[in-house]
Amino acid sequence: MMRLSRTTKVVVLTGAGISAESGIRTFRESGGLWENHKVEDVATWSGFEKDPALVWKFYRQRWEDSNSTKPNAAHYALVEMEHYYAQHFSLVTQNVDGLHSAAGSKNPLEMHGNLNSCFCTTCRAKFKLHDTDPDIAIPLCPKCGAYLRPDIVWFGEIPYFLSEIEHSLKKCDVFIIIGTSGLVYPAAGFVMTAKLMGAKTIAINLEAPDNLSFIDEFHQGKSGEVLPALVKEWTAP
Ligand code: OAD
Ligand code: ZN
Repeated sequence: MMRLSRTTKVVVLTGAGISAESGIRTFRESGGLWENHKVEDVATWSGFEKDPALVWKFYRQRWEDSNSTKPNAAHYALVEMEHYYAQHFSLVTQNVDGLHSAAGSKNPLEMHGNLNSCFCTTCRAKFKLHDTDPDIAIPLCPKCGAYLRPDIVWFGEIPYFLSEIEHSLKKCDVFIIIGTSGLVYPAAGFVMTAKLMGAKTIAINLEAPDNLSFIDEFHQGKSGEVLPALVKEWTAP
């Protein structure tokens, strides 16, 4: 049994698998498609240029779907970790569903954006999707009139918070990946950085992630079942 003291510096990276038990389908299980759409059509800038109405319809649907889901035991276990490790804890997520915040995590670094956020393709001003008119196929910027686009990091675009993430990877003692296939970079490479910088690396996943060779401790199973038990162990008095 392993305990991690309150001053252990812990970084957690989550992926689609942590939301699977909340009812959100992962990317890999839909065979390279995202809810029956080709990734190039709905998750690239060129797809948006070709058919912005389709891309907006798609993300509005994803946002509505995520609104009807609830965090699960794994999201709540991470809130407990945040309370326990306090300023020594950071949470990075590739998910755009907002479930970490919904569970109560204070500052998840949403490196791939958030479904409830959008920004202007011209003046870059940011807005909330819930402030836009759902009956308009392509929402327009209230400031300059240009198209708004979903605030999602598409393929070929640079994720958010990379310098903060790199900084915390370099000084962490333990790096934990949860529910992520290890196929999409740069997130897939974080485990290598952390390991090479001397951290202990832990994975919790339904199947072996692609970057398993950099993992010291692999816990196979559903994160909603495995993680709460591990958190109890790590934070045991
Ligand atoms: P994936 O769909 O690639 O991987 C999900 C992983 O979660 C798989 O390895 C599953 O085995 C595992 N899994 C499924 N159910 C689980 C459960 N209940 N408990 C634990 N693990 C479970 O999702 P990501 O790795 O998040 O990018 O994908 C990375 C990025 O690729 C996404 O952020 C997205 C996508 O293109 C953008 O949207 C920009
Ligand atoms: Zn604008």
